[in-house]
Amino acid sequence: MRIIVDADPGIDDALALYYLRAQREIEIVAIGTVHGNVPVQQATANALRLTERLNLDVPVAMGAAKPLAQPLKTAEDVHGQDGLGGHAGDEPKTVPTNESAAEQLANKARENPEELSLLAIGPLTNVALALQIEPRLPELLDKVVVMGGALNVPGNITSHAEANFWHDPEAADLVLAAGFEDLTIVGLDVTMESHAPQEWLDTLPDDCYPRRILGFYADFYGSFLGKKGFVPHDPLAAAILLDPGLASYHEDRFAIELTGRYTRGKIVADQRFLAPESPFGRDIATERTKAKYAVTADHARFLDQL
Ligand code: BDR
Ligand code: CA
Repeated sequence: MRIIVDADPGIDDALALYYLRAQREIEIVAIGTVHGNVPVQQATANALRLTERLNLDVPVAMGAAKPLAQPLKTAEDVHGQDGLGGHAGDEPKTVPTNESAAEQLANKARENPEELSLLAIGPLTNVALALQIEPRLPELLDKVVVMGGALNVPGNITSHAEANFWHDPEAADLVLAAGFEDLTIVGLDVTMESHAPQEWLDTLPDDCYPRRILGFYADFYGSFLGKKGFVPHDPLAAAILLDPGLASYHEDRFAIELTGRYTRGKIVADQRFLAPESPFGRDIATERTKAKYAVTADHARFLDQL
């Protein structure tokens, strides 16, 4: 499978890249970066550093520096000032490409129609911008897997919203409305259940890079959840792209709440048990193409693979 990764590295983004690098069936064709966990300049430097560490010779394109319609907000409390838990290290030796991440996504999709899949593990600003550059993106891409959303569980940044969708609700809604035929959303409903305990961390050699960067992330999750360990959101989305049988899904039409006072950025679907003749009718995203939202996953199998 040939994929483009759009990410905001980010400690779990970094772990997702390590995971993907270890998969024989996956070829990473290009990486795009986006604001989110850290400003996009930092995310780009981190993506370059990670490609160097992983001996991954792929173009890295710098993407959107801010959301479509709200001010930039970042999450250094979760990922550290440098986005890699204080272990970003030296300046990268490589440089980003000349095109933006949105241009790169649109161009690669045009050059390889129906051949490339997209793994989006940051805010969806670049994907929304790529749709403006190339409205045929939904037909040109093969599979799309997005990490984001909290459908039937609490949010992780506001009471109702998950971070990636909250960082750019307008972009997320444009992506859900775009008509991607094979769109899978991996949200907190499954990622929070894939909590990797301290014993999992203890199996990693002390001096390996993932172990070092995960220390900061595990400290954050330890205080947030009151138990030792961390939540591998982005690696689970990567694993589900590679192996869709790892999860089960609720198939529906989805939208992002854009105006709610307490719910802005929340993913919503009309999940009522409504008879077709009900006078109330359906009220959410009725025109949209269906997408799959992961509701259960084989967490033991995933953590073992990871
Ligand atoms: C998502 O937000 C970021 O903190 C992580 O990298 C992940 O993509 C989880 O809500
Ligand atoms: Ca991320």
